[in-house]
Amino acid sequence: MFTAATPEAPVRNLALDLVRVTEAGALASARWLGKGDKNAGDQAAVDAIRLGFNSMDIRGSVIIGEGEKDNAPMLYNGEQVGNGHGMAMDIAVDPVEGTNLLAFGRPNAISVVGAAPGGSMYNPGPSYYMQKLVVSAPAKDAVDIDAPIEVNLKNIAKALGKDVDDLIVFVLDKPRHEKIIKNIRSAGARIQLHTDGDITGALMVVDPRAEVDVMVGTGGTPEGIIAACAIKALGGQLFGRFDPQSFVEKEALQEAGIDLREILTVEKLVKSDDVFFSATGISGGTFLRGVQYTGNGAITHSMVIRSKTGSVRYIESHHNFERLMKISSVAYD
Ligand code: FBP
Repeated sequence: MFTAATPEAPVRNLALDLVRVTEAGALASARWLGKGDKNAGDQAAVDAIRLGFNSMDIRGSVIIGEGEKDNAPMLYNGEQVGNGHGMAMDIAVDPVEGTNLLAFGRPNAISVVGAAPGGSMYNPGPSYYMQKLVVSAPAKDAVDIDAPIEVNLKNIAKALGKDVDDLIVFVLDKPRHEKIIKNIRSAGARIQLHTDGDITGALMVVDPRAEVDVMVGTGGTPEGIIAACAIKALGGQLFGRFDPQSFVEKEALQEAGIDLREILTVEKLVKSDDVFFSATGISGGTFLRGVQYTGNGAITHSMVIRSKTGSVRYIESHHNFERLMKISSVAYD
């Protein structure tokens, strides 16, 4: 039981403020669902999220923004967010994770933010792409990012008390993964191929409600660090290594003195144990329902996580646009 003598009382859960930010991103961008214009949806979310942060009592510094990779609208790295009061926080934000999922009306587009005390989030400099291997807690000591996939699958299956052909592997459906997909198939495991969205992929591995057992392959570096914020709370491990996909990216990393061989883990990516994560569904998907407009408002569905307490909340919010627009400059309708 919680008493006054408890050494460390559960103080403010910043994720409960962050959810208003990701809700704003989802509400603004979901208008673009299936309209084929990924940048317009992204821009709408960026603007709404920036405004949303203004009402938060934090001195936030964006460590992980997104957009540079695709020349998309962005909350840029180094941008200050929040009202300038309160705790210094490092912010990792992806206003629309899965811009193509949104543009084509596919499942699992989410608006997502991770936050950790200032100075605790890894700054990946000019890295866009990261090789990732994500496993749940029972398998985290059973894998080696350098081992052949068939060996890792065998060891994961053993750690989970399954057979290799019971396993489901999440892989992004990209030409760069042709070989690994072939090897997973010949090892006998099953595969879920997704066009986009490897933050959700990582969540699927560490959340026991999803049937995915492991995620492998190369995806965005920002997405890797945001996923690490959630894994910190949910358990499991993400092994990552920068995996530049162009000569220019490789050269930039080398110039920045970044060791391309270093194996990154959740503990290296987010050093603090007090990490916050919020995601709101834009299109419906594995964990979250998409934004449902109701005529005079909308219903959103979010997942809110705090690592220190391990609390995971699902929040269904009913928004009234008429009232919101009396106090906000956002054109919700
Ligand atoms: P965006 O939201 O930037 O479109 O990212 C979607 C995504 O699929 C990520 O989930 C993934 O990490 C990354 O893109 C992979 O990059 P690419 O599509 O360039 O291979």
